[in-house]
Amino acid sequence: MCGIIGYAGHRPAVPLIVEGLRRLEYRGYDSAGVATVQNKEIDLVRASGKLAALDEKLAHINVTNSTFGVGHTRWATHGIPVEKNAHPHLDHDKKIAMIHNGIIENYQEIKADLLTKGYEFRSDTDSEVLVNLIAEGRKHTETMLKAISWALNQVEGAYAIALVCVDEPGIVYAARVSSPLVMGVGVGENFVASDIPAFLPYTREVVFIEDGELVKITSASWEVFRADTLEPVEKEVRTINWDVQAAQKGGHKHFMIKEIFEQPKVISDCLAGRIDTNKCEVVLPEIAEMEPPERLHIIACGTSYHAGLWGKNLIEQWAKIPVDVEIASEFRYRDPILSKGSLALAISQSGETADTLAGIKLAKQKGLQILGLCNVVGSSVARESDYIMYTQAGPEISVASTKAMCSQLTALLLLALYWGRRKGTIDDETYNRAVKDLRNIPSILDAELPAMRSRAKELCREYSEASSFFYLGRGLCFPLALEGALKLKEISYIHAEGYAAGEMKHGPIALIDPNFPTFALALKDDLFPKVKSNLVEVQARGGEIIALTNPGVELDVEHRWILPEVWGPLNAFMALPALQLFAYETADYLGKDVDQPRNLAKSVTVE
Ligand code: F6R
Repeated sequence: MCGIIGYAGHRPAVPLIVEGLRRLEYRGYDSAGVATVQNKEIDLVRASGKLAALDEKLAHINVTNSTFGVGHTRWATHGIPVEKNAHPHLDHDKKIAMIHNGIIENYQEIKADLLTKGYEFRSDTDSEVLVNLIAEGRKHTETMLKAISWALNQVEGAYAIALVCVDEPGIVYAARVSSPLVMGVGVGENFVASDIPAFLPYTREVVFIEDGELVKITSASWEVFRADTLEPVEKEVRTINWDVQAAQKGGHKHFMIKEIFEQPKVISDCLAGRIDTNKCEVVLPEIAEMEPPERLHIIACGTSYHAGLWGKNLIEQWAKIPVDVEIASEFRYRDPILSKGSLALAISQSGETADTLAGIKLAKQKGLQILGLCNVVGSSVARESDYIMYTQAGPEISVASTKAMCSQLTALLLLALYWGRRKGTIDDETYNRAVKDLRNIPSILDAELPAMRSRAKELCREYSEASSFFYLGRGLCFPLALEGALKLKEISYIHAEGYAAGEMKHGPIALIDPNFPTFALALKDDLFPKVKSNLVEVQARGGEIIALTNPGVELDVEHRWILPEVWGPLNAFMALPALQLFAYETADYLGKDVDQPRNLAKSVTVE
C-alpha cells in the first residue's frame, strides 16, 4: 500500500506534491520521491526513509518550477526500502517517470522478455518493469495513451499508476486495477491520487476512477477512457464534505473500522502471485528452495501469537509437521530443545517486537533457520530471517491489530497447503477445495461486512455494561476466542477471557452468573456438538450467551449471530471480523479512544 499523487496545473508542482504526500503518509512511509519535467528532461528526487528525508534533500537543491509531475510515498512490497527502489521509476531511456501502488504479478515474465530486447533495470521492483513495458509500447504506437493501453493489456495484478513523459509536457496519465485512484477536479488544475486527502485543500470536486479506467489530465482538461479499448467513459463529478482527517480514514470514524473493512482486499493482496490460477496451485517463491521442515517452532506475541495457534492446526493436519507455538517472551528465557531440521517461524506485523526478535536470536544460536512472516518490508524481523514471507496487509495504523491477523491467517493457510502438497500429505480433494474456495472469500466477506457491523452495533448496546466476558471456542475456533477476548479488553477495557470451551468446567465456570455473559464460537463444524454441550453448562448457571453460528444450526441461546457458511477452516475469515466488529462497536459506544487505547503502543520494541 503506497500513496500516489499526480498534478497538472498552474502552481509549482514539487511543493504541492510533497505536501499532498504528507497527507498520504499514513498509507506507507519507507521511502518517497517526486518527478517533474522541465526542458524535455525528467527531474527526479527520491529518498529512503520518511518524507522528512525527501524534504531535507529538496531543501538543498534547485527544484524545478514545472507545473506538472508525480509523487509517491512507498510501503515496500518488492525490494527492500532503499533509494533505488523508491518511486518514481524511470524507463530505460529516462523519458517516462512512473509511480505505482500495487503488485504486478507477471513482472518476472515481462522483465525476462524486456531483458532480451536490451532493457536494463536499476531497481528490484515490479514497477520499473511496467514503466519499461510502456516505453516499449511507445515504440509500437503513435501516442502515450495508446502505449499505456498496450502495456496494461499485458499485465496481471493490481495497480494504480500515474506517469509523466518528456514528449508530452503538461500531461499526467493515470490508471487503476484493484488499487485505489481518485481524480480531483480543480480550477485551472487537476489531480490524481490514491486518496482524497492528497488534494483536499485545493478541491472538493472528485471523480472516482474504476478498475480498468485510464485517465488523462492537463491543467485545463480531464478525460477518462477504458484502458483496454480507449473508448471514452462518462464520469460523474461528486462533491466531498470530509475534512482531511476524515478523508484519511476513508470517511470512517476510526482507522480500526477502516482496517476491518479492508480485510477482503488484504486477503486478495496476500494471495496475489501465490496461487497459480491456471493450475490451481499454491506457489510460494519465497520458500521454494527450502525443504519442508521436520518440526516447526512458531514464535510470536499477542495477536500474531493467536494467528500462530490457528496455523498450527492446519500445518499439523495437512502437512503433518509437528508445530509448537510459543509466546516469544516465554520462549526467549527457556532453554528449549530445538533439534536440527526444525525451523523457527517468527510471526510479527511490525517486525520490530523486541521479544520476537530475541526469540529469533535464540533459535539462531541453537542452529535453526528462521522463516519470518511479517508485514513491514525491511523490518528487523525481515532482516534477521533466512527466509521472509510478507503478509501484504498494508500499513496498520490502529493500535489494535485487525487486518494484519487476517493476512497472517491467509499466509499460514497457504503455508499449510504448500508444505502439505510438497510432502504429499494432503489429499487432492481438500487441497483443491481449499485453493478454490479461498479465492472466493474476499467477495463473500466484502458483501457480508455491512450486515456484520449492524449486528455488532445492536448486540454491543445490550452488553456494554458488562464488566466481564468469556469467549469460548474449540479447535480452530479456540485461537479466535482468544483473539476476540484480546480485542474487547484492549479497546473497551472490559475484562474478557478467552477459553477452550471444554476447559470451562475445570474452574472458570465458577464465575458464571447472570451478569457474566459469554461470547461463543459455535460454528457448524465437527466440534459443534461439544461446544453446544459446554454452552448448556453455562446456561445452567444463568449465563447469557451470544453465539457466532451458521444457518441451520440448532442452538437455543439469547443471541444467535448467523454468519454465512463457507468451507471448513475458511470460516475463520468470517468469524474474525465479527469478533473485531463487536469489540470495535462496544468501545466506540463506550466512547473509548479506539485507535490509541491507553497504555498500549503499536510496536512493542522494549521488553
Ligand atoms: C493486539 C496487538 C498486539 C500485537 C503484538 C505483536 O491488537 O496488536 O497484541 O499483536 O504486540 O505485535 P507484532 O505482530 O507487531 O509483533
